Amino acid sequence: MRVRLKGDAICTLFLLVALCSLLYSQLEHLVPGGNKEPPQKKPSVASKIFSDPRAPWRPMPAEATVPRPQITPTVRRTEAANNRVQTTTPPPLTDSAFNFKRYLLNKDNRNFNLLINQPKKCRKTPGGPFLLIAIKSVVEDFDRREIVRKTWGREGLVNGEQIQRVFLLGTPKNRTVLATWETLIHQESQTYRDVLLWDFMDTFFNLTLKEIHFLNWAAEFCHNVKFIFKGDADVFVNIENIVDFLVRHDPTEDLFVGDIIYNARPIRVRKSKYYIPETMYGLSIYPAYAGGGGFLLSSRTMRKLSRACGEVELFPIDDVFLGMCLQRINLKPTSHEGFKTFGIVKPSAAPHLQTFDPCFYKDLMVVHSLKVAEIWLMWNLLHSPHLSCTQKKQVKKPFQWKKKAQQRVKAIFLVDFPSPSQSVTL
Ligand SMILES: *[C@@H]1O[C@H](CO)[C@@H](O)[C@H](O)[C@H]1NC(C)=O
Ligand SMILES: *[C@@H]1O[C@H](CO)[C@@H](O)[C@H](O)[C@H]1NC(C)=O
Repeated sequence: MRVRLKGDAICTLFLLVALCSLLYSQLEHLVPGGNKEPPQKKPSVASKIFSDPRAPWRPMPAEATVPRPQITPTVRRTEAANNRVQTTTPPPLTDSAFNFKRYLLNKDNRNFNLLINQPKKCRKTPGGPFLLIAIKSVVEDFDRREIVRKTWGREGLVNGEQIQRVFLLGTPKNRTVLATWETLIHQESQTYRDVLLWDFMDTFFNLTLKEIHFLNWAAEFCHNVKFIFKGDADVFVNIENIVDFLVRHDPTEDLFVGDIIYNARPIRVRKSKYYIPETMYGLSIYPAYAGGGGFLLSSRTMRKLSRACGEVELFPIDDVFLGMCLQRINLKPTSHEGFKTFGIVKPSAAPHLQTFDPCFYKDLMVVHSLKVAEIWLMWNLLHSPHLSCTQKKQVKKPFQWKKKAQQRVKAIFLVDFPSPSQSVTL
C-alpha cells in the first residue's frame, strides 16, 4: 500500500535538511580538521550523518544539496555482525594493547566522586517517576544528547506515565580537545538538569565504573522509580512500546529484560579487542548478559544489582560485568520473545527499510547504531499525524538477514514485522 506524503511531511523534510546543514556548518567550526579521534572511537558527527550509503534508509533526493564529507569507515561497520561477544560500544582501537596488569592492580580503586548530580531528578513527581531513561554518553557528544532530548528521550508523560532522563558521563579522556568542557558541561547541566558526571576517565574499559556508579546513584537518589531503561545514545527507542510493555509488570518484582546473550565464550585471541586473559577470567563461558543498545530493569532489581555489583570484582567489559552481578543475585535475565537484537545487515535484505518506512519502526523497541539525523527523522515520521500503518500483521515468519557483515544496526523488536509492502514512498 502506498501512502502519499503531503504538506506536513514535506515540511518535515525541509526542516531535516535545514537541521543537517545547520549541524554541519556548526561542526565545521567546532571540529578541527584532520583525524581527530573522539573517545570511544565514534566517527565525527558530520561524517556519521552524511557518509553512510548503507544507512537503513536511503538518503532522500533533497539531501543531495547538502555537502558530503569523505566517508570514514566506522568501527561498527567493519565488525562481524554475528559476533555475539560484542558489547554496545566498540573499544578504541588505540587501546588494543589493554594493560591488564594495571587494570588488575587498580581494581580496588572503584569509588569516584560525583562531580555533577541531579539530586531532585526523581522527586519531582509524587510517588516517583514511572520510567527513568539513563543514557551512556561522553562529554564531547553534545549533539547526540541534544537529539535524544528532543526525540525519544523527552521528559514528561508518555501514555500517562511520567518519564525522566539522565545522561551518564565521565571526564573526557583528552582534555585538550575540549579545553572548555568543564564550563560547557556545567552550563548544559544547568539548562537541562539531566547530567550526571563522575570523576573517572570516560574510556571504553571504564564503562563498568559507569555501570556501578549509576546503579549506586539510582539506589540513593532514585529509589522511588518504577522502572529503568539504560541504553546508549546512538539508539532509537520506541518509548511508547516500552511503556506499554512495562505497565504490565510489577516494579516490586524482579525484572531484567533485554537482548540476552547466553554461553558467550571469553575471547582468548590476544589480538582481539575483547581479549580476556585467563588470569582475569578463568571460566570458559560468561554468565548470561544483555547485549545491544539497552535493557530494562525494575526498581527492585536495580536495588539488588546496586548491592551485588559492589561485591563483584571489576571486569573490563561492562555488559559481561552486569551479567556477573545478575548471576550473583541469582536472577535470570529475560529474553522477551519480542526482543530480538541482531545486525541489520543491509537494506536490500529488507526492502521496506530502503524506503524508510516508519511503520517498520512503529513496532520495535530499540534500534541500535543510528546517526543523529536518523533518530530525528524517525521520531518525527513516527509521530506524524499522517502516519497510517495498516495493521495487517503477517503470520509469524521469522525474519532472516543474510550474514554478510556490513552496516550493523541492532534492533529489539516487540512484535512482528509489518508487511514489507507497507511502505512510504518519498
Ligand atoms: C588530544 O587531542 C589533540 C587534538 O586532536 C591531539 O593533538 C592530542 O595528541 C591528543 N592528546 C592525547 C593525550 O590524546
Ligand atoms: C579509568 O578511570 C581512572 C580514573 O580516571 C583512570 O585512572 C584509569 O586509567 C581508567 N581506566 C581505564 C581502563 O581507562
